[in-house]
Amino acid sequence: MLSRRRFLHSLTASAALLGLPARAGAEAGPAILAAGPSRHRIAPEGLPETDLWTFNGSFPGPELRFAQGGRLACRVENRLEAPTAVHWHGLRLDNAMDGVPGVTQAPILPGEEFDYAFDLPDAGTYWYHSHAQSVEQVERGLYGALIVEEAEAPEVDRDLTLVLDDIRMARGAQLAGDFDNLHDRAHAGRIGNVVLTNGAPEPRYEVRRNDRLRLRLVNAANARIFELGLYGLSGWVMALDGMPLAAPQALTGPMVLAPGQRIDLIVDVTTAEDEAFLLHLERNGGYAQAVFGVAPGAGARRPDPAPLPPNPEFPIDLAGAVPQRVLMSGGAMRPLGEAIHQGEVLTGRELTDRGLVWALNGQAGRDILPLVEVPRGASVRLGLANDTAFRHAMHLHGMHFAQVRPDGTLGPLRDTLLMAPDETTEIAFAAHNPGDWLFHCHMLGHHAGGMGTFIRVTA
Ligand code: C2O
Ligand code: CU
Repeated sequence: MLSRRRFLHSLTASAALLGLPARAGAEAGPAILAAGPSRHRIAPEGLPETDLWTFNGSFPGPELRFAQGGRLACRVENRLEAPTAVHWHGLRLDNAMDGVPGVTQAPILPGEEFDYAFDLPDAGTYWYHSHAQSVEQVERGLYGALIVEEAEAPEVDRDLTLVLDDIRMARGAQLAGDFDNLHDRAHAGRIGNVVLTNGAPEPRYEVRRNDRLRLRLVNAANARIFELGLYGLSGWVMALDGMPLAAPQALTGPMVLAPGQRIDLIVDVTTAEDEAFLLHLERNGGYAQAVFGVAPGAGARRPDPAPLPPNPEFPIDLAGAVPQRVLMSGGAMRPLGEAIHQGEVLTGRELTDRGLVWALNGQAGRDILPLVEVPRGASVRLGLANDTAFRHAMHLHGMHFAQVRPDGTLGPLRDTLLMAPDETTEIAFAAHNPGDWLFHCHMLGHHAGGMGTFIRVTA
């Protein structure tokens, strides 16, 4: 059988024979992503299948793979009974393609379609998900991984994407339907009771001893912060939120993956046992998030990996950056007294009646005015203060930011930052990409509950 990979290889080979650049303009993945209902076996045999909403009937949606420097061109068809739109999380793309209804496009109505097309300058691990009523639509399964491959990828035996999720199952193996309940919103968000990897509880992958694996971890959960560990595997963090680290970082302790975040690992199968694990760490111990069946291998251990090739850089001018404070408030234990919603001052009670329980700078929900407006090329420095009793995963669309360390140096580029209760920190970014870009909590119920604003970069 001719596998797709082999087919791509033969294409590459013939392009080389013709003297053409092998990868430039290469496209892969389906030309159509159709959002619609589908049923999936998640619960054990004997229980019903689970009704989900998915892309192309696949849960997670199909993994899209492109070559760096290529172009994504994809028609999204809406076969749901609700409006939708697709956001390409973490990509530094053309603003019109960002997939935010009411900001960058009109929602795709049932029976309608929208053509997304944009260049892919950055390699890395990204994902796509519905950005319409996302607290419900992402929970129902409207998400998938999007991988942009380096021209010179590190040599590994297996390149495996692991998309982590949790869903809240109720009777009959169906999703609990109260997606918008105010209790979840005002607390840690909708946390599920079934933990999944690539749509399955504890999936198993076969590897050999001394194999080198590239693991691309994506947190697609509504609100769960995954704490992860490895057993029988050892290696390095290579990239965060798609962006390569300047130097691979040896893994020594647990990894924290907040909603929306990604970690790229390179790990070697070092165990002498016949199973290795990606562990999901809970207070009372570690659970298998994914299992690796280990067969004997002939290969020897490899030398430490070189860093991934850097993506195009947009230097951050910290000294000249436009400063802006962002005060995060609200939620259970510290409810909003009053806040502004669309220009109107509302009492805590009035806000709660509208499902608004969080605010940024005293604004509950996205205002018509941006948090900050800067010309393209400027840098922005945001001072973030989490004056709530909860953790939040703050996500910026369209551009990556760096955390400003206490000594004034910059951390690695990210698109989503996890903040602890009462934490204050600063992030900074080069506003290189014109458009209106959301900045919101990726605990999806928190966003729906008011924790979102946007940044305007003028051309
Ligand atoms: Cu992953 Cu505004 O989203
Ligand atoms: Cu939040």
